[in-house]
Amino acid sequence: MNKIDEIKQPIIADLLAYEKELALALQTENPILNQLSNYVLSTRGKQMRPILSLLVAQVCGGITESTIQGTIAIELLHIASLIHDDVLDSALERRNKPSVNAVFENKIAVLGGDYLLSKALFKASNSRNLDIIFEISKVGSNLADGEILQLANSKKQFITEDIYFDIISKKTASLFSSCARIGALSANATNHEIDCLGIYGTSIGICFQLRDDIFDYFSDDVGKPTGNDLREGKLTLPMLFALSKATNSEKEYLFSLLRKADLTEKEVQELQQFSIQKGGVEYATKKMYEYRDKAIRQLQYFATSATKNALMEYATYVIERNK
Ligand code: IPE
Ligand code: IPE
Ligand code: MG
Ligand code: MG
Repeated sequence: MNKIDEIKQPIIADLLAYEKELALALQTENPILNQLSNYVLSTRGKQMRPILSLLVAQVCGGITESTIQGTIAIELLHIASLIHDDVLDSALERRNKPSVNAVFENKIAVLGGDYLLSKALFKASNSRNLDIIFEISKVGSNLADGEILQLANSKKQFITEDIYFDIISKKTASLFSSCARIGALSANATNHEIDCLGIYGTSIGICFQLRDDIFDYFSDDVGKPTGNDLREGKLTLPMLFALSKATNSEKEYLFSLLRKADLTEKEVQELQQFSIQKGGVEYATKKMYEYRDKAIRQLQYFATSATKNALMEYATYVIERNK
């Protein structure tokens, strides 16, 4: 059994129930939205977020109907944000298939993303739990906040590591944090449990985005384009670290590339190689392990069980995954 299948083991039946309900939630009379929904459902992704909220609910005492509704809300919000993100990044591949904007036009992708977003709110209200509704609305604004912050900072001269971590905390870690908090809330966990698991989720989310950002510096098949952050002039941790080690003339040259509208394949590779050689990928990897350890420390409070074990493995999977 591979690692992710092992991690899913304690919640395998609930994951199937969740998937069925997710498909039901997207049924509509509108033929275009139906086509879009079916397309989206035909590419399931890694399901990292649903796995997390279900495992957390389980470790807090048990999965309930609210857990399922909240989990669907989270995944819909995630899918909607990916559809919008691919429009923003002009990315043509997602989950190993052409992105929604590549198959449908941008306008449909934007409206379809809005549709999924409102479905997410509907599912959140179906949880009949005000705290879960609060989490979903909070995360929606954090995602937009993070993406706008990132946009305002792309092609910039330099951003500090603090700004980078602020961006990824908002655009990615907030979703993982809410995922864990929703799992805990839906299982009537104690406040202390909810707080620990919220920090676990935030740390996991930071690991997840660091891993995603590292993918950009290699040309492996990860189911979506790599090198794209560099093409968009998006400064992520490996490049920030490398820039901090660069001479003035190297910096000048690198920024002239990062600000170019259309980079050639060779120029992208040059930027990738530079970050690797200056130790940027190594530095980001080290940070990832620090956050992984922080995540695992939050589980101390929970009694030993197969589900707790799966959550520990999950933290390592997020940073060692190759997709
Ligand atoms: C992309 O997530 C969003 C990020 C935070 C980087 P993935 O592309 O890894 O998500 P799934 O696995 O397809 O859902
Ligand atoms: C994460 O950022 C996107 C969202 C939070 C929606 P990226 O732009 O790095 O995500 P990918 O690499 O396109 O999946
Ligand atoms: Mg993107
Ligand atoms: Mg990315």
